[in-house]
Formats: sequence, structure tokens, C-alpha cells
Amino acid sequence: MTTPSLRKPRYLIWTVGCQMNKADSERIETFLDRQGCVPARALEEADLVILNTCAVRRSAEEHTEGQLGQLAGFKKRASHLAVAMTGCMVMNDTTQMQRRYPMVDLFFNSLQPEALQQLVNRPLDQPVPMSFDPTPIEMGPEALSPALHQLRSHEVMRYVPVIYGCDEHCTYCIVPSRRGRERSRPVGEIVAHVEELVSEGAREVTLLGQIVDRYGHDLSGRPDLAYLLERLSLISGLERIRFLTSHPRYIDERLIDAMRDLPKVCEYMHLPVQHGDDAVLRRMGRPYKVADYEYLVDHIRARLPNCSVSTDVIVGFCGETDEQFSHLLSLLDRVRFDVVHVAAYSPRPDTPSQRHFADDVPGAVKKERLWRVEALQERIGREINETLVGTQQEILVEGREREGSSRWKGRTRTNKITFFSIQDTTGDNERMDYTGHLVYVQVVQASARALQGRAILPALVEA
Ligand code: SAM
Ligand code: SF4
Ligand code: F3S
Repeated sequence: MTTPSLRKPRYLIWTVGCQMNKADSERIETFLDRQGCVPARALEEADLVILNTCAVRRSAEEHTEGQLGQLAGFKKRASHLAVAMTGCMVMNDTTQMQRRYPMVDLFFNSLQPEALQQLVNRPLDQPVPMSFDPTPIEMGPEALSPALHQLRSHEVMRYVPVIYGCDEHCTYCIVPSRRGRERSRPVGEIVAHVEELVSEGAREVTLLGQIVDRYGHDLSGRPDLAYLLERLSLISGLERIRFLTSHPRYIDERLIDAMRDLPKVCEYMHLPVQHGDDAVLRRMGRPYKVADYEYLVDHIRARLPNCSVSTDVIVGFCGETDEQFSHLLSLLDRVRFDVVHVAAYSPRPDTPSQRHFADDVPGAVKKERLWRVEALQERIGREINETLVGTQQEILVEGREREGSSRWKGRTRTNKITFFSIQDTTGDNERMDYTGHLVYVQVVQASARALQGRAILPALVEA
């Protein structure tokens, strides 16, 4: 029998932030599994908690701080519990962080989960030593071990980072300072990664990068995203490929052609505009004008008629006047995005906007502007989705709507979440697991955020 001190820790990973963090947490999970650790079912059972954090807005940090406060209380009763922190809240120099978050035993770079070794190989029947030497956090060209990508959760849709970091200079953004310079992963490594995911059950991959359309410029031979999409399209068993986030400045004809010509590449683009006023865009350090952006979207829609387009916008940026805000609303009205993610400006430490501009839009005004964007987009999103009622959409089934539910969920090629029933004349409805199948769903109802429908079977397109 294993003695308690030789047992490997049971772990919990708590993840906030963007898809990049989710992908990083999966690597951490894989690393821990390979070390012989097992996931804990609840905090009470855990020996190791890993917080994968986000710093994009102050509210994201506060969320993590709330978790840390609870963990500090919990640690008083469970002295064997180790807490490790990673993600974008963790800075290169952790001295300040150690003072601020004394309940954290280890700060590490999420791309280097090997740093967790010291917490994995400790005796579990003893308290965690008072202070671990924190591993220096380097955001350099990490050698990613391709062997570290094994799947555990057998999900149908997986995230695959293809370019790390960001070299852009948006004045409000903390990401470049926390994620480092741009580094692309070699094509061969990504292909091997995706093949492995497919062999474990993935049917769709979303390629990730802060500016995914800059993929490859730093690699020898300068492969681009279009080339990568071509290579990945050859993987049999992979049904769909998406990518995000695209930057308006770096989209080119080759990429649009690839989207048009490669059937596995879905008609969906996440293309943050950030604002609808040229002066605000300039202050934000975004290198285009509103008219350039609109021209680009018109062009994309002309070349890819069914392409859905989503965006990010920030309200209440430094100096944003009522009139400038109204320009944002008009842009949203003209472009009619499928989805808009809106955030209130949050000054971040050591960003150009925090250093040079006053955060002069009052909190109440930011909130009101945020609601106005949400209300407008609610109407536009609903109107767009209502045009799909009565159509048939190809859906990749991701699983049951909820555990135990008889309904299913999945996404259209245009990334619209869809809930549906399946009437299957060929099989036992109750027992069939349609996860991973492509089905055609008749849309019967639509809201701004989701579609409802029923699948027409036996029209299973492919297993
Ligand atoms: N790289 C992507 C891009 O260029 O849009 C996404 C970066 S960021 C992780 C995601 C979104 O957070 C941004 O598009 C922006 O709208 C928002 N964001 C970034 N910094 C922010 C800040 N200081 N306050 C409010 N929202 C912010
Ligand atoms: Fe931030 Fe701009 Fe880079 Fe996106 S492109 S991560 S918003 S600096
Ligand atoms: Fe993502 Fe948040 Fe970092 S949005 S890149 S986890 S700051």
C-alpha cells in the first residue's frame, strides 16, 4: 500500500481569462498527470491548487484575489495544501507578489509547468515549507515539448496556441508585458499536436494567438497562417478549424483565399475593432482608421458571404467624449457584428495609457455606455440570428446540453452556440452518444446569444 508521504498530490486547477489560459491549463494538467498526480474532486481533497490568472482588467485580478483570500483561510486548517500561481498576473519579478500574496508557495510561467516539480515531489504529510525559491519567470522562447499535449478530457473542440506573446503597442493593454515577445511554434510541431488531439477525440481546433494572423513571420521560411491552415486541413478526422484573434492590420488575401478554399476552415472571424472613433483609436495605439476597418469587413463579407464576424470594444477609454462614444454606436449599427464583447476601460499598471492619460470617464458613465452597447448588440445579434430560423445548420455536437439532459449542444460553422433535440429514427435515442458527430439541425428559434433547433436524422453527415 502507498504510504501517505509517497502519494502524489491531488490537484485542482482554477482558470480565468482567455482561451490562451485554458490551453495553458491543459498543458499543466497533462504535466501533472504524467507525474502521477490525480485531479481532486473538491478543494477539501486537494493537496495542490494552481491558479491560472488574468490581468487584462482590474476586475479579473480582484476575482483571483477573492480566491486567494479563501485559500489563505483554508490553508490555516490544511497546512499541507500548496498554492501555485501562474498566468498573466505573475510578473517577471515576483518579489512584490510574494509580499502581496503570502499564501502563494510558488509563482511560475504557465508555459513551464516543470517548475511544479518541487511541489509534486514533496512529502504530503508535512506542511508546505514556508518559502520556496520562486523559479525566475522568463517569457523567452520556451521550448514546448510536443509530447506534452496529451488529452485527458477527450473534448471535441480544442484550443491550440500557434503564436505566443504580442509585439503590438495598444496603449491600454497589459498583455505584451505579461506574455512577452511574439514567438511562433514551428508548423511541424503544431501539426503533430493537432494529430495527437484528433487521435484522442478532437474534431475541431481553434488556433490561438493574440494576433494569430501574424503567425510565422518569425520562423525560417516564413510560413503564414494560410499555409498552416492548408497543412492542418490534411489531417483526417479533423472536421473544423478556426483561429483567433485576428488583427485588422495583418489580414491578407492569402488568408481570405484559404478560408474560402479550405472546406474545414470555418466561416468565422474574431476581429477586434476596439472603437468607432478615429481619435480614440489613435490614442489607443490601434494602427487603422474606422473607414479602413469597415472596408476590410465589407471585403471579407464580399469574398466570404456567410462569414460571421465578432469583435471586442472598449468603452470609457481616457478622454472618450459623448460624441466619440456615439461614433462607436454608429459603427456597431453599420457593421452589424454577430457578437460584440464589450469592456469598460480599466487602467493597467505600466501601460502607456495608465502612465500618460487620465482615466477621466467616471465609473457610472462607463457603466452606462457599456449597457448601451450591450442593449444595441442584443437587438442586432437577435435580428441576425432570427434570419437563421427555418434554415438547416451543420452542427458539431459537443455533448449534452447539461449532464443527464436529453438535449444536445454544439456550434454552427459560424460559431453560434446551438441547443437541440435529436429525433433519430435509426437508433436508440436515449442511449446514443452523438458527441463528435456532425449533424444537420433545423433552427426553430433564435436569441442574440443562441439558437434552438431539432436535428433531422438519419441525416448524420459523418461520424
Ligand atoms: N489580442 C487581442 C486583440 O488584439 O484584440 C485580444 C487582447 S485582450 C486579451 C482581449 C480584449 O480585452 C481586448 O480586445 C480588449 O478589448 C480588452 N482589453 C484589453 N485591455 C483592456 C483594458 N485595459 N481595459 C478594458 N478592456 C481591455
Ligand atoms: Fe493587447 Fe493590442 Fe496585443 Fe491585442 S494586439 S494583445 S489588445 S497589445
Ligand atoms: Fe488572456 Fe487575460 Fe492574459 S485575457 S492573455 S489571460 S491578461
